[in-house]
Amino acid sequence: MMKEKDLRTVRVDYNQFKLDDESILENPFDLFAQWLEEAAEHIDKDYNAMVVSSVGQDGPSSRIVLLRKCSDEGFMFYTNRASRKAMDFRFDNRVALNFFWSALERQVRVQGTVIATSEEESDDYFNTRPRGSKLSAWASEQSQEIVSRSALERNYQEMESRFNGQDVPRPPFWGGYLVVPNAIEFWQGRNSRLHDRVLFKLNGDGWNHVRLQP
Ligand SMILES: Cc1cc2nc3c(=O)[nH]c(=O)nc-3n(C[C@H](O)[C@H](O)[C@H](O)COP(=O)(O)O)c2cc1C
Repeated sequence: MMKEKDLRTVRVDYNQFKLDDESILENPFDLFAQWLEEAAEHIDKDYNAMVVSSVGQDGPSSRIVLLRKCSDEGFMFYTNRASRKAMDFRFDNRVALNFFWSALERQVRVQGTVIATSEEESDDYFNTRPRGSKLSAWASEQSQEIVSRSALERNYQEMESRFNGQDVPRPPFWGGYLVVPNAIEFWQGRNSRLHDRVLFKLNGDGWNHVRLQP
């Protein structure tokens, strides 16, 4: 049984930056790119990590994945197309992303829909991965149960033998997903919990933004 943990006195104030009207860019992707660059400068590990939330038959579910590309089209990541998240995407294509850059006291929330990317696009990225990661993609039926760690390692060794002396091709069950946003919120921590929140909403072809109360 877990001994109760009391975290009520854990408290930090946020005071490094602000998101004032002058720092808001008209295009949320430009602002995202700026925040991502700043995250790259200040965070040494996994600054491109994001939470992906999905809704499936069993309800909502979240997990971290790595952002691999982003442009005005959306946010791209790669995974197993038979994983739990991929099943969820088929059940409901609406997803949410969340980036949290603690060192910068910033959060970005994205709402949108997810689409599977092309075979060609998936191949392009797969071919850049280290050989070990490629073999793991073949060895793991992501999200399925397995009896033991050693069974998983045996699967990996089998893939090593199968592709011995050859390039490892992309498994047909592995590929990219693009999250096409319809809303993006930028959250900047401020003093005394009086944070800045700016919500961009897609309006036809363009974006409008409003300020939200913290
Ligand atoms: C820092 C970090 C990065 C991760 N990156 C990925 C990723 O890019 N793709 C992926 O499929 N899983 C990634 N994972 C593992 C996922 O969080 C998750 O365990 C896995 O995708 C299975 O999720 P699912 O069962 O909901 O489909 C990452 C986990 C962490 C903590």
